[in-house]
Parts: sequence; C-alpha cells; structure tokens
Amino acid sequence: MSSQKALFLLERLGKFGLGTNTIPEPAPGELLVEIRATALNPVDWKIQDHDFEGIIQEYPAILGTDSAGVVAKVGEGVTRFAVGDRVMHQGFFTTRMATFQQYTTVPEQLAAKIPPNLTFDEACTIPLTMATAAIGLYNKHIEPNGGCELSPPWEEGGRGKYAGQPFFVTGGSSSLGQHVIQFAKLSGFSPIITTASPRHEAALKALGATHVVDRATPPTELPALARRLAGAPVLVAFDAISSRDTQNVCYDVLARGGQVVLALPSEIEKGKLTPEKRVVEVFGNVHVPAQTPVGISLYRKVTELVANGDIKPNNVEVLPNGLLGIPDGLNRLKEGKVSLAKLVARPQETP
Ligand SMILES: NC(=O)c1ccc[n+]([C@@H]2O[C@H](COP(=O)([O-])OP(=O)(O)OC[C@H]3O[C@@H](n4cnc5c(N)ncnc54)[C@H](OP(=O)(O)O)[C@@H]3O)[C@@H](O)[C@H]2O)c1
Repeated sequence: MSSQKALFLLERLGKFGLGTNTIPEPAPGELLVEIRATALNPVDWKIQDHDFEGIIQEYPAILGTDSAGVVAKVGEGVTRFAVGDRVMHQGFFTTRMATFQQYTTVPEQLAAKIPPNLTFDEACTIPLTMATAAIGLYNKHIEPNGGCELSPPWEEGGRGKYAGQPFFVTGGSSSLGQHVIQFAKLSGFSPIITTASPRHEAALKALGATHVVDRATPPTELPALARRLAGAPVLVAFDAISSRDTQNVCYDVLARGGQVVLALPSEIEKGKLTPEKRVVEVFGNVHVPAQTPVGISLYRKVTELVANGDIKPNNVEVLPNGLLGIPDGLNRLKEGKVSLAKLVARPQETP
C-alpha cells in the first residue's frame, strides 16, 4: 500500500509534526481525492490549544476539514464523478477524511465539481464555512446541533422566500460571516445588517450586506442601532464571531419569536434567556449524520451556485512549504492576524 505525507497533531495539546499516512482505498460510494489545496480554520488551532469540544478521540491525529483537489480513484458504485474531475468538499476529523494530508476520501454525495471560474486555492476556502452557514440557517430543528429550519434558497421555492425581512449577522468579514451574508441574500432577507471594520464595507456590500456597522461600536449601543436599521422585528440573527459580547448583542437584537445561530457554545447571560427566543448552537459539518441530508441537498447545487457567483470564495493567502506552513498559519489565526482572508496550504508542495 502506498503512503503519503500528512501533518499530525502528535498528542493531545501537543505539537504538529510531518509524518506518513497510508493512502486510503475509497469505499463504495466514495472518492479518493488528491488534495491540491486545503484551508485553515479556527477549529484547527483550538483543537491543538485546548482540545476543543473533545472532537479528537485518538492521537496522533490529522486535522483539516476543507479540501479542493482531483479525483484520483472512485469507489464501487460512484456515478457522478470520474478520475481527473476537479472537486471541492468538506473533510472530517479522522485519518481517512481529514485534509492536512495529500490524499483523503469523501462520499460522492458530499462533493461538488469545481466550476472553471475557481482555482483549487479559491475552492478550498468554501466548504466548512458554507456548511456552517447553511446548517445553522436551513437544517431541521434537531438537538443539539440543529438549525433554524428556514427554506433553503437552493431548493424549489426557497430563493427570495424571506423578502422584506431584516437579518442581523455579527462579523461579516469572517469566513463564516461572508457565507451567512451570501445565504441571507439568496433567501431574500433585507436589510442585511452586519458588524465589521469599516475598511471591509465595500467588500461586504458586494456580497449582499446592506448596512455595515463599525465592529468597534460599544455592545451597549449596538442592539438599539441594529434594531433601528432593521426597521422591523429581527427574527433571524447569526453570530459568526460568538464572543460573549457578540452573543449577547445578537440575543438583544432578536425580537421575541426569533432565532439566533451561535458559532460557539452559548455564553448568553442566563438572566436574559427566554423561551421566546430560540438559540441554535451550530456544528458546521455535513458529515454528522443529522446534518448529512441538508449537506446532500446543498452539494447537488454547489457547482451551479459557485459558477454563477451566488457563492463566492474568500480572498486567498497561500502559505509556503505545503503542509509544513500550516502550524505558523494556525498561530496567525489564533492571534487574530488574519483579516478578510483564508490561509491555504498546498499539500502536494510539501518539501
Ligand atoms: N460552530 C461551527 O461549526 C463553526 C464553524 C466555523 C467557524 N466557527 C467559529 O466561528 C468563528 C469565526 O470563524 P471564521 O473561520 O469565520 O473566522 P475568521 O475568518 O478567521 O475571522 C476573522 C475575521 O473576523 C473578524 N472579527 C473578529 N472579531 C470580530 C468582532 N468582534 N466583530 C466583528 N468582526 C470580527 C476579523 O475582522 P478584522 O478584519 O476587522 O480584524 C476578521 O476579518 C470562530 O470562532 C470559529 O471557531 C464555528
């Protein structure tokens, strides 16, 4: 069996190190993907730093859950893809499905062909944060990782369905925020109010935001300002940052009967919680069984949505030295030094 280079988190809360992993055989219905580009996400440094949510069960572990590459082999029964196709997909935290390595596997139902208008580097910026936005807004109410159960805009009758209803999202310039804005626009929400550094205003308006409020606005003033700009009760909000402050701001912006999606576990003040406002803590991965149906439905349409510009990639910064560039990149993410961009590594360029 042939082997590949992989970046291992060597032990719990330990260091990263380059090693080798067996190139897996695709199971029936799966693709083996030669990864040309993989994106870094905050969850990757959080796992190393504090064993985030106990996601990793076994060490040494391979992280990384965003991939774009070429189909190298297809499993039995695969019908939608052939060897040589350019594909993008989300990974999972197992040695067969993680993406900080040169080859990975994915079920064909959860992969999409990359349209010609996107490079591998651009395509790999999309899967994880697109999934998180989509699951949070459109998945069913399933505890503990459900969604708001809105009608998906990529399905019959969903596009524009919420026309005229206001939407509030914190952190529009984050990778997640950018996808939330784009889905809110496809769903018809208007106005779409977000918080960000003023220098990002033009970029976020190009994605669909109608109002960009300075992220430095004090949390005590933000809810009233957002409600004024909304002009009608806000029934859907998304906290793409999910600090204690942004969570409480979102909750305060929300009207009774509304739903707010949090990207991290709730830190909303207990005293203000009411059953009349629903809090959704999203886990943005399409490989979790309760979320796979919405993922399959979305992945049927991803190629089209990306080709026609309904879903746009993030700005890309390619890291040097393939997989070996990842640890420094994760430190930069941890230090908050990445702004309106996604850090991308090319595993095949690992020295
Ligand atoms: N639950 C899930 O499954 C899931 C999935 C994805 C992400 N997340 C979480 O969601 C958060 C965002 O992830 P990401 O990958 O989208 O991050 P990211 O792209 O690395 O976020 C960086 C951006 O966020 C902006 N930002 C930081 N703090 C802000 C604040 N208080 N208000 C407004 N903007 C702010 C920064 O703005 P400047 O440019 O002004 O510095 C920067 O542009 C992370 O905590 C991540 O762990 C959770």
